[in-house]
Amino acid sequence: MELCIIGAGYVGLTTGACLSEIGHHVAVTDCDAAKIADLERGRLPIYEEFLQPLVEGNQAAGRLRFTTEAPAAIAAAEAIFVCVGTPPDRDGKANLAAVERVTRQIAECAAGHKLIIGKSTVPARTAEHIRRTLDTFARNRASFEVVSNPEFLREGTGVYDFFHPDRIVVGCDTAAAAARMRELYRPVLEGLFQCPCHARPAADCGWHAPAWMETSTTSAELIKHAANSFLSLKISYANAIADICELAGADALAVLRGIGLDRRIGEAFLRPGLGFGGFCFPKDLSAFLEIAAELGYDFRLLREVQAINAERVALFVRKLRESLWVLEDKTLGVLGLAFKPGTDDTRLSPAMAVAHELLKHKLRLQVYDPKAMERARAELPPEVVYCGHPEAVAEGAEAVLILTEWPEFRALDWTAMKARMLRPLVLDGRNLFRAGELEALGFEYAALGQGVVAHTTSAAAPVTS
Ligand code: UGA
Repeated sequence: MELCIIGAGYVGLTTGACLSEIGHHVAVTDCDAAKIADLERGRLPIYEEFLQPLVEGNQAAGRLRFTTEAPAAIAAAEAIFVCVGTPPDRDGKANLAAVERVTRQIAECAAGHKLIIGKSTVPARTAEHIRRTLDTFARNRASFEVVSNPEFLREGTGVYDFFHPDRIVVGCDTAAAAARMRELYRPVLEGLFQCPCHARPAADCGWHAPAWMETSTTSAELIKHAANSFLSLKISYANAIADICELAGADALAVLRGIGLDRRIGEAFLRPGLGFGGFCFPKDLSAFLEIAAELGYDFRLLREVQAINAERVALFVRKLRESLWVLEDKTLGVLGLAFKPGTDDTRLSPAMAVAHELLKHKLRLQVYDPKAMERARAELPPEVVYCGHPEAVAEGAEAVLILTEWPEFRALDWTAMKARMLRPLVLDGRNLFRAGELEALGFEYAALGQGVVAHTTSAAAPVTS
C-alpha cells in the first residue's frame, strides 16, 4: 500500500520504517525541515535499537522516503497515519493543536478515498473530532474513514515490539476500513516477515500471532490510556510494597516475585525503584485523569499512583543523606541518566530528577550513561562532569548511584571501581543488584526495597530466592 506518516517523532519514524520493511511504500513527513533533511542523509533524531539499519535498508530499496512535501505525500497515499505529538498543557490535558492542524491539512490536500489512522495518544472521542473536521474542510470531493490504531511500542524496543505485538487494536466504523487495516498488518498478523532484530524468519524469532481486536474508535482511544495507566499502577503498587517491605524487614524483590508468579498478576512491571518516567506514562496518566474528570469521574486511584511515583526521587535522596550525612562538597558517581535502559531519552527521567536534586547541594557529580550523555548535557548545569567510561564515575567518589538499570553496569569491574572510590558505597535506585552481591566485594550497598545494609564490610550471604 502507499502510506503517508505525518510526524517523524519516535512513533512515526519507528512505525514508518517497520511498515516499509513489511513491503509498503512509505513517505514520512514532518513540519521540521531540518529533521527531514537529517533523515534523508541517514541521521536519525533518536537512538532506537535496529532502527538505523532498517531506515537505511528501506531507503535504499526505495520503499521509505522522507519529505517536507506533505500535500503531495497525502495526495499519493491510500492511508495516512497521524503520529504528531500531543504534549501536555499546563493542566495536564493533551494538547491537540498539532492533531487539528494536520487533520485540516489532510482535508485540504486529499482527493478520493482515504483512511486516516490516528496513532498519537489522544483523549476519548478525538476520532469523532477528526471525522467532523475532515468533513468540514474536505475539498476535491474527498471521502474519509477514520481509524484509531493505538500505539503500544516501548522506547528502546520499538522495532522488536512492532514485529511481536501482543495485540493490534483497530477502532473504526466500517467493515471495509477494518479489512484494509487487516491487509496493512497482514505480514505481522501471519508472521510473513524476516525479523530485523534477529535476521531470522518470524517463526524462528519467538513470533506469536497477535490478537486482532476491532472496536469503536472511542474504545480504542481509551484502551491506550487504560493500558498505560494500569502499567503505571503496577509500578506504584510495587513501590508501595517495597516501602512496606523495608519497614517490615522483608526482601521486596522476593515478595514481588512471589506475587508476580501468579499468572493472573504477572511479573512484568513489578520492579521497584525510582519509579516511572519518560514521555509516556507521566503524561498519559495526567491526561487520563483529565479525561476522566471531564467525563465526570474522579479517578482517585490514579491520583494515588501519581503521588506514590512523585515521592520516589525524594526517598532516594533521603536514603543517600542517611548514609552520607552531609552532601555538600562530596563527589558522587552517577551511573545512568536515561529514563530506562535501551534509550537516549532523558525526558522526565527519574535519574535526571535525582541529578537535579543533588546539584542543589553544591557537590561534584561525575556521570555516565551509554546513550543519554548528549541529551543530559543540554539539560544539566555546566558543572556536571561527563565521564568517558563508566568506571571513571567512581574516581574519588563517596558513593556511586545506579539510576538507570543498563545491563552493562552489572558487568563492570566493581573491584576496580571500589579501588577508585573514597568510600565504597553503592546506592542502587533500580535494584540492578541483589543484596549481598556487592557486599561480598566489600561494598556498603543500599537499594530501594532491599533494606539499608549500611557500614558493613563483611561478606553477606547472597539472597537465593
Ligand atoms: C510505555 C508502554 O510500555 C508502551 O506500551 C507504550 O506504547 C508507550 O509507553 C507509549 O505510550 O508510547 P515506554 O514509555 O517506552 O513505554 O517505557 P516502559 O518500558 O513502559 O517504562 C516506563 C517507565 O517505567 C520507565 O521509567 C521504567 O524504568 C519504569 N518501570 C518499568 C519501573 O519503574 N518498573 C517496572 O517494573 C517497569
